[in-house]
Amino acid sequence: MYLLIPAAGSGRRMGSSRNKLLLPLLDKPVLAWTLAAIKASRSVRWVGIIGQPDDLPDFKEIVISLGMTKCVHWIPGGTTRQESVYKGLQALPVVAERVLIHDGARCLVTPELIDRCAAALLRSPGLIAAVPVKDTIKVVAPATQLIASTPDRRQLWAAQTPQGFAVEPLTRCHDEGIRQGWEVTDDAALFEQCGLPVTVVPGEESNLKVTTPMDLAIAEFILRQRGK
Ligand code: CTP
Ligand code: MG
Repeated sequence: MYLLIPAAGSGRRMGSSRNKLLLPLLDKPVLAWTLAAIKASRSVRWVGIIGQPDDLPDFKEIVISLGMTKCVHWIPGGTTRQESVYKGLQALPVVAERVLIHDGARCLVTPELIDRCAAALLRSPGLIAAVPVKDTIKVVAPATQLIASTPDRRQLWAAQTPQGFAVEPLTRCHDEGIRQGWEVTDDAALFEQCGLPVTVVPGEESNLKVTTPMDLAIAEFILRQRGK
């Protein structure tokens, strides 16, 4: 299986001066935890790390320190996640029929979840890992701060990565997104907007995305609980 890692962000919400994926989490950088899970997955053979050129030396050091024997490729990222993934898709070998996309910032992903998504991808053209939401979610009008509606929580799932797709339709959806000016925060949204089906695979509650300093503290707690 081919896997792309969007890792070209800046970590604005983390409030740090460098890419949050290079911040320490216990004894290694955030991205090293993500890569260690990918290294341990049975299904992934080819890894494309999408990053900003400035971060390349640090990323290289992480890959070397993990002794990754899988094929690891470097892909220069874009100014948005959407653009970074698009560049990743263009860098895939022509023989790649399916691809998993996993955010570098979801550093607590398990090899088992990656492998479950890879297996499910053989049966469906689009899928995401997701978990039922725990909070009651409100739709709020930005101008007035008034609640517009309260969607039925039983139908709400929080999207995670890995997300997996057949490469050819996903590339077409990205092209359409560029033509139409769609701004999305995950790849499934492009698939959906093009009317293509996306299946949900049960994710993991601990598969959080490191976004704010508090997430780093929670990630550290979870890793310690795992005996790391
Ligand atoms: N990402 C990317 N290219 C970008 C922006 C984001 O590859 N131009 C990646 C991030 O590195 C991250 C994933 O997409 O692994 C999810 O993005 P997010 O959590 O929003 O990370 P950042 O964009 O770095 O954080 P922020 O939005 O707070 O600046
Ligand atoms: Mg972002």
